[in-house]
Amino acid sequence: MRRKLAAGNWKMNGGNAELDGLRTLSQIHSGAAIDILICPPFTLIAAAAECAGSIAIGGQNCHSDASGAHTGDISAQMLADVGASAVILGHSERRADHSETSEDVRAKAHAAHAAGLITIICVGESLDQREAQNTLDIIGGQLSTSVPDTATGENTVIAYEPCWAIGTGLTPTTDQIGDVHDFIRTRLEKRLGTGAGRSIRLLYGGSVKAANAAEIFAVSNVDGALVGGASLKSDDFSPIISALEAAANVS
Ligand code: PGA
Repeated sequence: MRRKLAAGNWKMNGGNAELDGLRTLSQIHSGAAIDILICPPFTLIAAAAECAGSIAIGGQNCHSDASGAHTGDISAQMLADVGASAVILGHSERRADHSETSEDVRAKAHAAHAAGLITIICVGESLDQREAQNTLDIIGGQLSTSVPDTATGENTVIAYEPCWAIGTGLTPTTDQIGDVHDFIRTRLEKRLGTGAGRSIRLLYGGSVKAANAAEIFAVSNVDGALVGGASLKSDDFSPIISALEAAANVS
């Protein structure tokens, strides 16, 4: 049984004032039978970890080295040191804005696992790639290079995030989501064996909101969501969490 996960990615948003919303969320969902994770900017991780109750806190990136001369970077150990238990890696905005490759993502994943962090490794196709019918090839390539051989259900989560659905209000059809998630599951089982391959959680991300959450959570091999814009306010994220709790009760 894979435990469902509702993850919020605040991206480069939020200051101390936004921690009130986090406190509210943790009160509303204190007894949740699913995992809830918020990934605020680095500047808020320590304070968020103090006030988040049973909500886990994660980073949005880390360096592949544990320490050293890398001005402006943050290591996985530093994230763990201030209370993070997870880190998002290979988000399409990192791949696009910072030219991160799948090799980089795998190196970061090794570092994160060594620091005891859960990695949420993101994969996803562009609109051009989808229109050229290359979606599964792209996802397969990103998976095989980004995900380390040592990935297990305990240390790794995969997020399928089509680039064209992020922050656009567009979402794939539930059939399209199901096709990609089933493909990822099959690939993971082939490569890592059925034990690890079946226990790694698969999140969908890209314009998830309260209005579409329930239908996305009903899709096969969708174990939760990675939510950007709709995770910034507790009023928006709370109903998504509730929809996932309801999906956990029926599965
Ligand atoms: P969005 O972002 O929910 O705002 O589309 C998702 C993400 O980038 O993780």
